[in-house]
Amino acid sequence: MILSTRTMAFSAMLCLLPGLSQAGSVEVLHYWTSGGEARSVQVLQQAMQEDGHTWDDFVVQGGGGGNAMATLQDRVLRGNPPTAAQIKGLDIQRWARLGFLSNINGLADEQQWDERLPPVVAAAMQYNGDYVAVPVNVHRTNWLWANKRILDSVGVAVPTTWAEFDQAADLIAAAGYRVIAQGHQDWQHATLFEAVALSVGGPEFYQAALVEHDFRAMRSDTMDAVFDRYYRLLEHMPLSDDLGEWNQATSLVINGEAAFQFMGDWAKGEFSAEGKVANTDYVCAPVPGTQNQFLFNIDSFAIFDLRGASQADQTAQNDLVRNIMDDSFQRTFNQNKGSIPPRTDMSMSAFDDCARVSMSEFIAAAANDSLLPSIAHGMATTGTVQGYFYEKIGELTVNPISPSESSRELAKAIRYGQYVIK
Ligand code: GAL
Repeated sequence: MILSTRTMAFSAMLCLLPGLSQAGSVEVLHYWTSGGEARSVQVLQQAMQEDGHTWDDFVVQGGGGGNAMATLQDRVLRGNPPTAAQIKGLDIQRWARLGFLSNINGLADEQQWDERLPPVVAAAMQYNGDYVAVPVNVHRTNWLWANKRILDSVGVAVPTTWAEFDQAADLIAAAGYRVIAQGHQDWQHATLFEAVALSVGGPEFYQAALVEHDFRAMRSDTMDAVFDRYYRLLEHMPLSDDLGEWNQATSLVINGEAAFQFMGDWAKGEFSAEGKVANTDYVCAPVPGTQNQFLFNIDSFAIFDLRGASQADQTAQNDLVRNIMDDSFQRTFNQNKGSIPPRTDMSMSAFDDCARVSMSEFIAAAANDSLLPSIAHGMATTGTVQGYFYEKIGELTVNPISPSESSRELAKAIRYGQYVIK
């Protein structure tokens, strides 16, 4: 191919301009497709394009990320990993142990991650003491979202106990509203179940049963009581509701067709995307009985080892990591996503009341070592155990049995997940 004089001159100019000549491309796997999520991803895409890089959006539909992880596994095992992928919690350890991830200690030192991240976040991003992933946010999963107009119209406050919830539910149902909007997918059932377990059993029970899988805790009267409460909530979220994705359920609360949704604060991103204002259009509140408790779910991008990639693409990958930990990205992204920054040194003045409460409770829980990892979102246990947990809770949601039988079945499923070789 004969290059024209103009093209050669333009290429020469590119090489002289620092940065532009290193314009590379990044391919980023994620599963953020709802309104609030998509707006959040666009913030990162724009930051990369402003650096002159090309953004190849590797998006896989499906809340909770199950589909995305299956697609990623296929790509990596065929020797073609993306630049980065939305991988969380203990799954980061698994990918790092297999040798697929890149050591990004240099970037972490450059941006002082050790000084800026709480230990629980820093540890989740490391394998054998080396950073291999970059944290994007901290979500809290034990939230209750309420449509304020419905609560005001039936004359109830946001419930702080299950007795108050039951009373409010009866009034809301009598007024003709759907009480709970909850998508019928295993991971959404698991998100509700873990919050009920924390509420009924308390933090020590949650840690013993759903993090350490202590058999006595899993087979205790307390777990029976958790299932009893969970099954009573199912009465207000009939399977006949043909709700699929979590954001469809959020829309019902946003539009005043349903009073409540139990969901992590990515739901707040949907309210924000619709221009709704916390404590005016809707209320965010801890799941009844979980006040001051923080079930955490850290979204992160694991950074793949791009063996043999061009210098430009390696530069683009480094810029991706730098941008994610940058103040302005962290502020704008998390305002859209409904989460809080993982950097507790950040000012929260630009955030709403829900985020400020979340950050203050996150900092307090981190300080007294009472943060609890979400089992429903990959923070507490292996992907295998999580999968059996999802499956069993899903089964019991569709076909409830007695609480004590349910505890026995769940304990068997978790125990099986711990020892099965997949
Ligand atoms: C979580 C993820 C959130 C959000 C949610 C719904 O696992 O951490 O960022 O994507 O699933 O898909």
